[in-house]
Amino acid sequence: MGFRDRYGREHDELRISVTDRCNLRCRYCMPVEPEWFPREAILRYEEIARLARIFARRGVRRLRLTGGEPLLRRDLVRLVELLRGIPEVEELSLTTNGVLLEDLAEPLVAAGLQRVNVSLDTLRPERFRALAGRDALARVLRGLEAAAAAGLAPIKINTVLVRGVNDDEAVELARFARERAWELRFIEVMPLDNHGGWDPSRVVPGAEIRRRIEARWPLVRDPEADPRAPATRFLYRDGGGAIGFVDSVSAPFCATCSRLRLTADGKLATCLYAQEETDLRALVRGGASDAEIERTIEAAVARKGRGGALEVLERQSPPPLVRTMHQLGG
Ligand code: 5AD
Ligand code: SF4
Repeated sequence: MGFRDRYGREHDELRISVTDRCNLRCRYCMPVEPEWFPREAILRYEEIARLARIFARRGVRRLRLTGGEPLLRRDLVRLVELLRGIPEVEELSLTTNGVLLEDLAEPLVAAGLQRVNVSLDTLRPERFRALAGRDALARVLRGLEAAAAAGLAPIKINTVLVRGVNDDEAVELARFARERAWELRFIEVMPLDNHGGWDPSRVVPGAEIRRRIEARWPLVRDPEADPRAPATRFLYRDGGGAIGFVDSVSAPFCATCSRLRLTADGKLATCLYAQEETDLRALVRGGASDAEIERTIEAAVARKGRGGALEVLERQSPPPLVRTMHQLGG
């Protein structure tokens, strides 16, 4: 099942942003001077869990916690415990920048977290500081090790290459991940930053990166890859594991989009580029019944458009944004 839209897409994944705050300042994500949501605007864990149960009852099977940086939210372990208690949920995962993962990996796993995606755009400490605004590469690498030691598997690394900035590191990053049996995924940089920094010439197409990787290690399409997943998955022919390409700009996957997003301030967004959002917080705090909330979600999904990324591709320019990535959760 899942929430079905008018294009026949089944939505069975909910990405839950737990905070808009972040301890890094990646240029492609954050405005230069971010303004944070006030505390009372942010959904409490019980409110998130109630909404998640409503989604799950209607066929949502995968939950992913995102941010901002989700590990900044106090006592995230408790939210993981609450969400693990929802019987229909088959997969509970986290997207993090890894800075705080070293201490949290183990308690999160004990609470029921199953998978993690860690963002990593460079292996050079100086460059990390320039890109993310903070000298934290060593901590991120320790966070990754801790995640592996805690039994999170598979470990995926999200890498955004920007032309002229870090695209010279594609092969090094691939080698780093291969050697550890972690799955690297290159994500094309999307116009979600809101300070006008995006430019199509900065996007490094996945196909180009793939050619560079292939020149070093031949690849073959993974015959068992999930056709609905945003990443196109390849296997190294030498048995060195898998690598993925999320061609979010050059080849949008809107046609198989299965994701819904709940923002930290309780709005439902049906697309990263959505112009319209649905205020679930007002319902939760206004005494609405589960059935009313469910109908509201259903109606929002029914209005979902064909896909914002398709429009970006056609126009080659950023759409007007309601939110930037840090308020949306990737
Ligand atoms: N384009 C592509 N990916 C982005 N991310 C953040 N902003 C952008 C953007 N503008 C990535 C982060 C993180 C994931 C949630 O999304 O690197 O890995
Ligand atoms: Fe923070 Fe992630 Fe945005 Fe970087 S991409 S600023 S780590 S929320």
